Amino acid sequence: MAMTSEELKASFKLAMRRFPAAVTVITSADQGRRHGMTATAVTSLSLDPPSLIACINRTTLLHDIMLHGRHFCVNVLRRDQAELSSAFSGAVAPEARFAQGKWLTSTDGVNYLADAQINVFCRKVAAVPYGTHTIFIGEAHSVNMCDPIEPLIYQDATYCFAGAAAGQTSCKAGAVNH
Ligand SMILES: Cc1cc2nc3c(=O)[nH]c(=O)nc-3n(C[C@H](O)[C@H](O)[C@H](O)COP(=O)(O)O)c2cc1C
Repeated sequence: MAMTSEELKASFKLAMRRFPAAVTVITSADQGRRHGMTATAVTSLSLDPPSLIACINRTTLLHDIMLHGRHFCVNVLRRDQAELSSAFSGAVAPEARFAQGKWLTSTDGVNYLADAQINVFCRKVAAVPYGTHTIFIGEAHSVNMCDPIEPLIYQDATYCFAGAAAGQTSCKAGAVNH
């Protein structure tokens, strides 16, 4: 028997909990405001040009700032930055969030986390509305990275971190090139 739409939504939600994702804080700025928000719905789009997408709920404060702003930064968190993720997903009021962590300002006027795993600095090139969200497409113009590779992962509503798969001596050896 086919699932009702409510059953499908419940199953989809449970399935997505089993979908591990790297935790990021996306930062942006418009003419008067700077803001940051935790997001996992972020993925690479293409190498040519280097670009990524971020899916942002229309009800969030970051959404409107990204709509008006011209740049954003994807800060991928490290495994010891779960507290920062909580702060940027509602535990701390918007204006007080940047008090936690080492934040600097890029030449674009966007805050970035100096000790993040990765910073991807993007120029916003498109905003595609879909249902409750907008898909923002960013073209990367600069990237910072730090070692070791130990990103914070969110899975089954829990923060975790990746280990090497069986037979691998390190996560790097198991990485897929794309
Ligand atoms: C681990 C985690 C991942 C999240 N990923 C997203 C996401 O990809 N897109 C989104 O719109 N909200 C996401 N959220 C929810 C926002 O972080 C949360 O709604 C935030 O408090 C709203 O932002 P604002 O206070 O800036 O309005 C996520 C929350 C958590 C805890």
